[in-house]
Amino acid sequence: MDIETLRNEWDELNREYTELETCNRRYMELLEQLQQHQQKCFNEIKHQRYRMNQITASVRQYKGPIGGEEKEKLDDLQKMSLKRKAQLHEIEQSLPAKSGRYLQIILGDVNVSILNRNDKVRYKDDYEKFKLILNVIGLIMAFFNLIFNYRALELSFIFLLVWYYCTLTIRESILKVNGSRIKGWWRAHHFISTVAAGVLLIWPQGEHWQLFRLQFMYFNVYISIVQYLQFGYQKGLLYRLKALGERHNMDITIEGFHSWMWRGLSFLLPFLFIGYAFQAYNAWTLFKLAYYPPDAPWHVSVMCGLFLLLFVGNTATTLWVVPEKIRERSKERYRLQSMGKSMKLRKEMKNSASDLDLSGSSQVATTTPTSLTPTQATTTPTATPTPTPTPAAASAAAAMPTATEKKEN
Ligand code: COA
Repeated sequence: MDIETLRNEWDELNREYTELETCNRRYMELLEQLQQHQQKCFNEIKHQRYRMNQITASVRQYKGPIGGEEKEKLDDLQKMSLKRKAQLHEIEQSLPAKSGRYLQIILGDVNVSILNRNDKVRYKDDYEKFKLILNVIGLIMAFFNLIFNYRALELSFIFLLVWYYCTLTIRESILKVNGSRIKGWWRAHHFISTVAAGVLLIWPQGEHWQLFRLQFMYFNVYISIVQYLQFGYQKGLLYRLKALGERHNMDITIEGFHSWMWRGLSFLLPFLFIGYAFQAYNAWTLFKLAYYPPDAPWHVSVMCGLFLLLFVGNTATTLWVVPEKIRERSKERYRLQSMGKSMKLRKEMKNSASDLDLSGSSQVATTTPTSLTPTQATTTPTATPTPTPTPAAASAAAAMPTATEKKEN
């Protein structure tokens, strides 16, 4: 190659760099606008909540005559308030949220918000798969520990438990930041399980451990099977949740979601309660071991207390879940409606964006590169082509509530 050709190639690269600069500038402008819009949304949400609280308080204090018509209007107001709460919650799902203290300590001050409902569902799916894989490994290891009594095998299994529960606490904290309604107890349960596995890891191999060992391994085999059933239940719910963002008649899907949930729950609950009874039995065995044989290490009493705590917490929370689900049926329906709408909208927007991308790139391909100098290019960022909206873009825009619709809602 001669020098002149190299020079020409460099000039061409320069032109491409100019395009890159323009693109980056546009991107930074959009980032700036994004932050402004996020702030505006935060303010508006705050305002909506403030006004809603005022209206709800006035409804509660209403002392006028309550005839049939007034009662209907009050009921309507209550329904609309529930619906609005679900809508606001859904809007919050597209905005960044602060990490809790635990995540800040572990990960540092990093943003773990996922700003797209579909990606949130995907992350949850990944969390469930992670639990499934680790449970299968746990089941195999517990099974081998039942057959062989090797300390190294035993310790690697218990170490796996420490790591597994510790990882769960982190993943669940990320889910929580991203709007999961996971109950505090289940998170606490995994913290307690991490501590319990840590205590087991340092429990010296003596007579007491040998007396409890087999029962503990059987317990783990059972729990792994129950967790497999739990995986089936959660996976089914997630599958139906994804369908909410795809179907046209959302009511049918919400009905399907609920009927599947109740069937799944009634199948799962007996297995869960047997598991809790097993936890109580573990606590009872350890209680007896704390007294006989004599000189029990402190690990026995601590493990007894932890199993008892898990038994009480799990039983109380699971018993609480069913009536709560019945009580909050309409709230749940609005939540699913808002979630389904938001997922659909995001999908349509994504499709329209890729359509715009395609039409944009075909336009770029048909036009020869302009001979702008770097300075010209950076001062004229609006010179980028603005393609006409595609049908998908139009439908996405149509799915957005108009100002009047917003007022009516
Ligand atoms: N671990 C992690 N997340 C859980 C959870 C658990 N044990 N139980 C519920 N969640 C999550 C749900 O996935 C849901 O998440 P989302 O808001 O991101 O969609 C949220 O918490 C709210 O769930 P909820 O509607 O209250 O319950 P559910 O219908 O999803 O599940 C049970 C109900 C009873 C089946 C479930 O809580 C469960 O499996 N509990 C038993 C756990 C247990 O005892 N483990 C030890 C085995 S002995």
